[in-house]
Amino acid sequence: MSKFTVVEHPLIQHKLSILRRKEASTKEFRELVDEIGMLMAYEVSRELPLEDVTIETPVAQMTAKQLAGKKLAVVPILRAGIGMVDGILKLIPAARVGHIGMYRDEETMKPVEYMVKLPTDIADRQIFLVDPMLATGGSAALAVDVLKKRGASNIKFVCLVAAPEGVKALQEAHPDLDIYAASLDDHLNEQGYIVPGLGDAGDRLFGTK
Ligand code: PRP
Ligand code: URA
Repeated sequence: MSKFTVVEHPLIQHKLSILRRKEASTKEFRELVDEIGMLMAYEVSRELPLEDVTIETPVAQMTAKQLAGKKLAVVPILRAGIGMVDGILKLIPAARVGHIGMYRDEETMKPVEYMVKLPTDIADRQIFLVDPMLATGGSAALAVDVLKKRGASNIKFVCLVAAPEGVKALQEAHPDLDIYAASLDDHLNEQGYIVPGLGDAGDRLFGTK
């Protein structure tokens, strides 16, 4: 069954509150999404498997730990997911990056896919699918469909702000998916915006409105 986790780390919560403020500038918004993305990746990567490896320090040989198992891919849902990628790559620099381009039709609120570019071995990778906002859940559910169609099975969805409606819809569509958020907000308004939320993440990140 799908696991939903709100990451309560104090640094994440503090930075998220600054991010939400309507007066946060584009520069501040971008920096904070990057930092929170990194902190979320730190928490989400807690469960990555380790293996023993023999190394030599300047003093002695020892059995040390290194990451084992599947290699990682970070896949942002464009546009806003792009803001989380660099922060994650600071922690996991060897990860590959795929892109899924999708926007939400303002009338229907349904996602429209416009681009998919993924590592060729995506089926063999542990995937962090990232997007700051989980609103109706339509974009995330379609992005997971796209990944599964290409053989991926090991996917974690990482967002910053989630609406209860989106969590429910995504869990119903993909019961095998683990979902991580920095906050579970109250509800969606009639326009499909998360309340209290932080507004339109893509526009705030890129300064397009
Ligand atoms: C936003 C957000 C998600 C989507 C969430 O993207 O970044 O991708 O909406 O909404 P949903 O859960 O109801 O599908 P948007 O469509 O505004 O595109 P943008 O990132 O290009 O601005
Ligand atoms: N997309 C956003 O960027 N913000 C919302 O509140 C909902 C969807």
